[in-house]
Amino acid sequence: MASKNDLDFTYTTIDKLFRLSLGESADYSGAKYDGDFSMSLEEAQRAKHKFIADSLNIREGSKVLDMGCGWGAFLTYATKGKKAQGIGLTLSEGQAKACQKNGLQVFIKDCRYVKPEDFGLFDAVVCVGAFEHFCSIEEWQAGKQETVYRNFFRTVSELLPAGGRFYLQTMTFSKNMPAFEDVSVTAKKGSPEHVLALMIKEFPGSWLPYGPEMLLQNAAPDFKLISQSSGRLDYIETIGQWRKRFRKFNLQKYLLYLSLLPKYLLDKELRNQIEVFRISPNRVCFELEVMDHYRMVFEKT
Ligand SMILES: C[S@@+](CC[C@H](N)C(=O)[O-])C[C@H]1O[C@@H](n2cnc3c(N)ncnc32)[C@H](O)[C@@H]1O
Repeated sequence: MASKNDLDFTYTTIDKLFRLSLGESADYSGAKYDGDFSMSLEEAQRAKHKFIADSLNIREGSKVLDMGCGWGAFLTYATKGKKAQGIGLTLSEGQAKACQKNGLQVFIKDCRYVKPEDFGLFDAVVCVGAFEHFCSIEEWQAGKQETVYRNFFRTVSELLPAGGRFYLQTMTFSKNMPAFEDVSVTAKKGSPEHVLALMIKEFPGSWLPYGPEMLLQNAAPDFKLISQSSGRLDYIETIGQWRKRFRKFNLQKYLLYLSLLPKYLLDKELRNQIEVFRISPNRVCFELEVMDHYRMVFEKT
């Protein structure tokens, strides 16, 4: 799985830029437009929060665990909007500090190993955009991917009562995924092989599940599926909106971009990271159907 260093590289590096561009507690995952792109990004994120809360029967007093809570967007909705009790887990220090500063109960902890002894049982569990990080390329190559997922679903199930619900939102590989041996940053620019290589740079230590079937199969011993939908097209729109916000002028943000210039010239990894922002390889992966994106509601059997 992606290590704490990997996740700090992905998320803590952009912590300030993210908050200056999108707001203190914004989502860093696909929104829910359901194809209606006249909605603003904020409306579509709010629609996602509502969908999750409704699907998981989250109401006043519900105890909710957000696994991989990011900057606390859903936690804020659940605790301030629904008056639920919420706990969030992340492996990024920048995110944890920002969430704590904003009054959220967030811990730096690997959510794949949470036990009932840690925080007790929950009425509902959500995991939005974190599952992508649970299996590394090395684990996939060693044939351990299914075991990683099986163990994770078991962990979630042990935190819920029978009938308790779990919302999972994750990217998956899709039908046009290239052969791993051909994936390279030197491949033809914009090709599946090239954009997937950039994705690997952006999210070190992370490998995706092979479609919703792999998720269903590994969830099946503990959960039944209540609903499933693809958010691929909605994610393309979400990323387009993020790009606009990252570019929008804000003095503090542009000074921050300037301060990165010497590091940019000396640090190849940072240049790769910025290339990622320029190209948005995840958007191209969705467009080329190298990747898909699923929202799944599960119920513990
Ligand atoms: C793409 S962000 C999504 C954040 C948030 N759920 C949202 O929708 O805005 C992925 C999050 O997963 C977290 N994460 C990934 N693997 C994790 C793990 N094993 N334990 C805890 N957090 C993890 C990262 O630290 C980050 O907060």
